[in-house]
Amino acid sequence: MTDLAIIGGSGLTRLQGLQITRRQVVHTPYGEPSAPVIHGILNQREIAFLPRHGAGHTIPPHKVNYRANIWALEHIGARKILAIAAVGGIGPAMAPGVIAIPDQIIDYTYGRDHTYFEHELSKVTHIDFTYPYSEKMRQSIMRAAKSAGVPVIPNGVYGATQGPRLETAMEINRMERDGCTLVGMTGMPETALARELDLDYACCAVVANWAAGRGDGPISMKQIEQYIGQGMAQIISLIEALVDS
Ligand code: HPA
Repeated sequence: MTDLAIIGGSGLTRLQGLQITRRQVVHTPYGEPSAPVIHGILNQREIAFLPRHGAGHTIPPHKVNYRANIWALEHIGARKILAIAAVGGIGPAMAPGVIAIPDQIIDYTYGRDHTYFEHELSKVTHIDFTYPYSEKMRQSIMRAAKSAGVPVIPNGVYGATQGPRLETAMEINRMERDGCTLVGMTGMPETALARELDLDYACCAVVANWAAGRGDGPISMKQIEQYIGQGMAQIISLIEALVDS
């Protein structure tokens, strides 16, 4: 039974080391997920994997069908989701190369289908979202990181922006005043949708660059790719330890 699913972000469209057993096309009431769900074995445990941006990394953050993705993972039996995301670093500790496990999120996105609770409701539903990530899942990730020898920062405030453009320096200043220490484009509505379906969801954020205005000069895509590549090797060790736990 597959109860752990990994959502791979930029740089993680394939999970190295995963022995793929089958690909499952899931049709959802919300349309098509980013790709077929990949089932496979990692360290003798069955897990599921879904590349958030599609198998060929062609779906930009504002076009991802987050509702279909989360619905599909719940449908195939996942109860725990580890979401991997590349982010920019805002806080002084969030330098490129760092991996952080955020504990809070602020939503700056707009126009995305962000809830399952809008049609054919027997009553209006408001989920509790005080602590947006599953603390149980965050703790499992931190234990896995420790046993894999992967250093992680155990908290962070993820500011979810609309994209696909990067932010202005002033937008980042404003986000910092709001309390954000990380910035990415995919954290919302994914995190809230997982809560709506009562799944244990947490995120591993791989810092790929200093956020706009925080580094020297413009943000270089080449550098982002380099840090993502390095970070993903560590993420794979962490996932291996997580499935072992
Ligand atoms: N901003 C938003 N999303 C990102 C960034 C960034 O600087 N880096 C990687 N994903």
